[in-house]
Amino acid sequence: MNSSPKPSLFVPDPETIRRSRIPDYDGFYAASVADPASFWGNVLKDLHFTKAPTKILDWNPKSFEARWLVGAEGNICENALDRHVRDGFANKVALIWAGDRGEEDIFTYGRLLDQTVRFARILQRLGVGKGDRVTLFLPPTPAQVIAMLACARLGAIHSVVFSGFSQAALRSRLEDFEPKVLVTADCGYRRGKRIPLLETARAARKGLSSIAATLVVPRDASPESLESGERALPDLMEEVRFDGPLSPVPVSCDDPLFVLYTSGTTGKPKGVVHVQLGYMLGTYATTRHIFDLRDSDVYFCVADPGWITGHSYIVYGPLLNRATVLLSEGTPEYPDAGRHWSLIERHRVSIYYSTPTTIRLQMRFGDSWPANRDLSSLRILGSVGEPLNPEAWHWLHRVTGGKLPIMDTWWQTETGMIMVSPLPSTPEKPGSAGRSFPGVVADVVDASGKSLPPGETGTVVIRTPWPSMFRTVFRDPERYRKYWTEIPGAFFSGDSARRDEDGFFFFLGRVDDVIKVAGHRLGTAEIESALITHPKVAEAAAIGKPDELRGEIIKVFVVLHPHATDTPPAHEEIKKHVRTELGGIAEPHEVDIVISLPKTRSGKIMRRVLKAREMGLPEGDLSTLED
Ligand code: PRX
Repeated sequence: MNSSPKPSLFVPDPETIRRSRIPDYDGFYAASVADPASFWGNVLKDLHFTKAPTKILDWNPKSFEARWLVGAEGNICENALDRHVRDGFANKVALIWAGDRGEEDIFTYGRLLDQTVRFARILQRLGVGKGDRVTLFLPPTPAQVIAMLACARLGAIHSVVFSGFSQAALRSRLEDFEPKVLVTADCGYRRGKRIPLLETARAARKGLSSIAATLVVPRDASPESLESGERALPDLMEEVRFDGPLSPVPVSCDDPLFVLYTSGTTGKPKGVVHVQLGYMLGTYATTRHIFDLRDSDVYFCVADPGWITGHSYIVYGPLLNRATVLLSEGTPEYPDAGRHWSLIERHRVSIYYSTPTTIRLQMRFGDSWPANRDLSSLRILGSVGEPLNPEAWHWLHRVTGGKLPIMDTWWQTETGMIMVSPLPSTPEKPGSAGRSFPGVVADVVDASGKSLPPGETGTVVIRTPWPSMFRTVFRDPERYRKYWTEIPGAFFSGDSARRDEDGFFFFLGRVDDVIKVAGHRLGTAEIESALITHPKVAEAAAIGKPDELRGEIIKVFVVLHPHATDTPPAHEEIKKHVRTELGGIAEPHEVDIVISLPKTRSGKIMRRVLKAREMGLPEGDLSTLED
């Protein structure tokens, strides 16, 4: 054990500050928020547009509509691939893939562009054009990245569904999104276990008339027999073999890039809509400054492209920055607990963007795993998804040599880009995510929207628009409005935090009915809706229970139908039911069968009372309790 006193403030060395693109955060930040149009306008110069914007931002505070880069035309795929090839980087490695079973594949920018063009041609043959919707249900493989970029190239809208989701979860997303084409694979792998994606996709799409074709990409092998409406990628690849180049389709500032479903406070996940051009600006700038990307870097983000972190910081942000990206399939403990450290050593990774749960898991496995690997290539570390506790911060800092900056980045599916984070040139306080990114105005407020002084806990809001903000909730504009009306005139994040006297944010968790399990975002209502579809369950409540490893675990309380009390279901049966309905990430860790649930007189379940009881804390104001 390291017995040296733990620093409460980590200050980067002068050389790192000097080398940084933003050596003076305070001055730079003040200027960026005093004149956001100039700040973002400057970033814009690095990117390529077929038509330059006439206005950086058109903000309507009444409808909460923010149109970034008005009048511009361009394409994010063109900026992520063609631009670099044109600039002479066709032979630079763009993507290194490390499969769950030890496979490896490497794509230069030239090869990635070539494959993306072919994939786009195939989608075109299947009828996909600008504005058409495509659902991607793929494992984290190069095909997933290529399929996303191919959609973007055509101006089509992708919706990536995490490959760990169940048939029912995929189906509800397909029902809402109504894609023209569904892209899936024969299977994926996780901890060496085969995940039969095609079977899940077939069951999920049954009877959905919007889907004209299902494209099957071989992860392992092409399926032996195809069902009607299915096409195998290799056959189509052969068909488009001699097709010429395919120019990226220019899109405007209002054209969507993707819809990503995420959990909220109701039973139904919401489709968060992001547009191409604004999102491009935000992800490009944040990746560049927070990870200080240089041409010699090898960048490894442990997320899955099925989540927003993978969209913004595996695919779009890094490729826009001409990075070499390492994409890994699988988990941090397979084939052994040194999986990430081995990948870092093998590929000379310099930037490692991880999650608190991963770091705490690695911590449990012990120091010998990182100690046995050469980690000298590392220069910047990162974390996302839940608060990074000081113990995990100090451990990661120590096992990587005690010198590297750790970017604890706070953001959300809705924000599209990192909003609050240190920069490699700024001081860090373990447990804090630092301060607002340039051009971003994050604040901690009370219920009336008034800024709170240092030390006081309140709600986190964003006061002004930012380029990669979501533009609406798919088919549910009212849900979009709610984000802006909860605290009048500001974006309501659903998180609580306090700031210290230096303005550093300390995030504390959600204030709504969203729980974070190992960084995965789940709605209590979503879990409850799944529970009550079990024939023996009459009522259900789900809470997030604090957990040392995963941040929170799912604990559920169920009331059985009277007829079911004689033969109560086994706890395992209830867990399995949720797993089937939603997928493994939503499986409850603990199940309590109870006689009744605490409710308000109007019948709303008081989850906070259940949580307080569970944690042995005071139950608070019970005046509205029914019984
Ligand atoms: O509660 C915050 C937590 O993750 C939520 C957003 O989840 P999601 O949309 O799935 O996006 C996750 C990846 C960006 C936030 O409302 N969160 C994210 N990053 C942090 C965090 N909580 C504390 N510290 C962070 N760095």
